Amino acid sequence: MSNSKSKTITVIGSGLIGRSWSMVFASGGYHVKIYDNQPGQAAKAMTEIRKQLKELEEACMLRGELTAAQQLALLSSYEDLAQALEGSFFVQECVFEQLDVKQSLFQDIEHHVGEDIILSSSTSCLVPSSVFSKIQNPSRCLVSHPVNPPYYVKLVELVPHPETSATVMDTTHALMTKVGQAPVCLKKEIDGFALNRVQAAIIAESWRLVQDGVISVKDIDLVMSEGLGMRYALIGPMETMHLNAPEGLEDYMKRYGEGIRRVLTSFGPVPDFFSEGAKSITKEMCELIPSDQQHLSARKERRDQFLMHLAKLKKDH
Ligand SMILES: NC(=O)c1ccc[n+]([C@@H]2O[C@H](COP(=O)([O-])OP(=O)(O)OC[C@H]3O[C@@H](n4cnc5c(N)ncnc54)[C@H](O)[C@@H]3O)[C@@H](O)[C@H]2O)c1
Repeated sequence: MSNSKSKTITVIGSGLIGRSWSMVFASGGYHVKIYDNQPGQAAKAMTEIRKQLKELEEACMLRGELTAAQQLALLSSYEDLAQALEGSFFVQECVFEQLDVKQSLFQDIEHHVGEDIILSSSTSCLVPSSVFSKIQNPSRCLVSHPVNPPYYVKLVELVPHPETSATVMDTTHALMTKVGQAPVCLKKEIDGFALNRVQAAIIAESWRLVQDGVISVKDIDLVMSEGLGMRYALIGPMETMHLNAPEGLEDYMKRYGEGIRRVLTSFGPVPDFFSEGAKSITKEMCELIPSDQQHLSARKERRDQFLMHLAKLKKDH
């Protein structure tokens, strides 16, 4: 593997996630070739990235050791797939969340790259054995599932296809660590991976508590933002339990295990998110934050500002 090849990554699809991945990889000093099949889209992404890098530099929030200009110089845009793939050792796919689109794209990619090139998908909801089902050599394939926006939220779930080699997992883990992400490895594929399964459990119980008239929409959000979330931005549920009893996790379970089991057995069935009752939950939410673009954009900006500050806080400690 030549030196420039070991430093070049191809990002396919230049929407929200593709642009973010490109910035993350460039911040780690990698050359990034951006490809999109919509004419002009990859070039447009470059313009957007240029603007964002400048803003981040001005706000002292730029990631990595390089200046915005140096990072920008590592990026290039392509409208030809073969050219975009030439010389890369790692491909990060970020196209629409449609199984057939991803499957046929990976078939095309496989024709253009050597056996040792790692093929990685950003999919949120599709398991690797589906995404890579039409690929001849799935041992070099995996899902690297980011959290939006990956520039501030560093977790990336590495999910293997049943045939993915250990070397591919290790190389991807090392790459993600090098560019400043926080990779976690799933030992096998599962629907929803880890993050979305935990998220689904939280959504389900929050929904049931509101639906059953136990708590308001506003207050269940406060339970998370002013309660559980305060810890969970810093330590996970396992460490939280370990620290919450004088002698650690075993002691915690002796004290609270039965209570947790009792509560768990009282959980209701999977909620119907489209029932008549669901409409009143949606209405309650919209009374707090109307769902027009102006209100939603303002709240998204506020969320991203919080995330930016939190990322800085975590970096500084
Ligand atoms: N948005 C999120 O919050 C989020 C979070 C984690 C993972 N993801 C995953 O990342 C992927 C991309 O999501 P997004 O939000 O960036 O989507 P997006 O719609 O913003 O961007 C998709 C881009 O892919 C391009 N594209 C579509 N088909 C293509 C093809 N065959 N070849 C090349 N380019 C193609 C489109 O032109 C578009 O620019 C999805 O699989 C999604 O599930 C999204």
